[in-house]
Amino acid sequence: RTPKQPFTSSTRQEDLKWEFPRENLYLEEALGEGEFGVVMKAKAKGLAGQEGYMQVAIKMLKHCSTPSEEQDLWSEFNLLKDVTHPNVIRLLGACTKEGPLYLIVEYCANGCLLNYLRNSCLEEKGYVNQHVCYKTPNNNKEIRQNGETLTIRDLLSFAWQIAKGMRYLSDIKLVHRDLAARNVLVAAGKHLKISDFGLTRDIYEADAYLKKSRGRIPVKWMAPESLYAQIYTTKSDVWSYGIVLWELVTLGASPYPGIPPERLYSLLVGGYRMDRPEHCPEEMYAVMQKCWKIDPQDRPKFRAIADILDRILQEKT
Ligand code: ADE
Repeated sequence: RTPKQPFTSSTRQEDLKWEFPRENLYLEEALGEGEFGVVMKAKAKGLAGQEGYMQVAIKMLKHCSTPSEEQDLWSEFNLLKDVTHPNVIRLLGACTKEGPLYLIVEYCANGCLLNYLRNSCLEEKGYVNQHVCYKTPNNNKEIRQNGETLTIRDLLSFAWQIAKGMRYLSDIKLVHRDLAARNVLVAAGKHLKISDFGLTRDIYEADAYLKKSRGRIPVKWMAPESLYAQIYTTKSDVWSYGIVLWELVTLGASPYPGIPPERLYSLLVGGYRMDRPEHCPEEMYAVMQKCWKIDPQDRPKFRAIADILDRILQEKT
């Protein structure tokens, strides 16, 4: 990969390859909304040489967004042009001319992983364990209607798919910086796709990216070196991945329950880590603990994590 110049004429030329006529998009309801961006469900007529209409998702800015948010969406566009992996969201096209920037991406029918987990129940040894259904903030157990019943095997498969997507991103030298269950999407057939590249940075040859002053990343997913020195590497993505494993096996609980974010850094440096959640296989907790090693170099590579999970899944068939 060669470093990208943000707005050279060659980049513009390259954009034309992705250009899709705005008038062939039929916007439907909002799928998700952030502070500055919104994702709309839409149908696209004649996209990617296909006849008829294709269900897609469109990422765009809200009116209140600032130039720096706009820059984030452009950089997400530039990054997505280069990524092709079954476990990473795929860019299908873009509207860059005569109006606001729209990124057209594949539609994932089951929405974000965090809500999907929260609406699911865990089946263990043939019975549905209602105890592991998502707990509301005041800790009442709430059993949702229409949710999936997931098995430990499903959760291990989710962990494996995310590890494979992250292995690919680290191979092409991308640091995600915001890996969390809320930023993973669930497509049909329980296929997961890593999404939300707004904060992703291309690290080129350097092995660390120093974040500038905007502190938008939630503390409880961040590695100690990111909290302390704004250092983001593939190894800090591995730390966040450990938190995602914890989110998986708790069916979307919020990490470090009861711990105020401002106390977290000193607790982590003092060696505190979350306990093994109920129903969490020992091997999966062992991976979490490796991801949460204080020295980034001691954390495993995504390749090794994917291999461990692959082996566990094979043993379970
Ligand atoms: N929410 C955010 N992005 C989405 C997508 N691509 N598909 C479905 N729901 C989404």
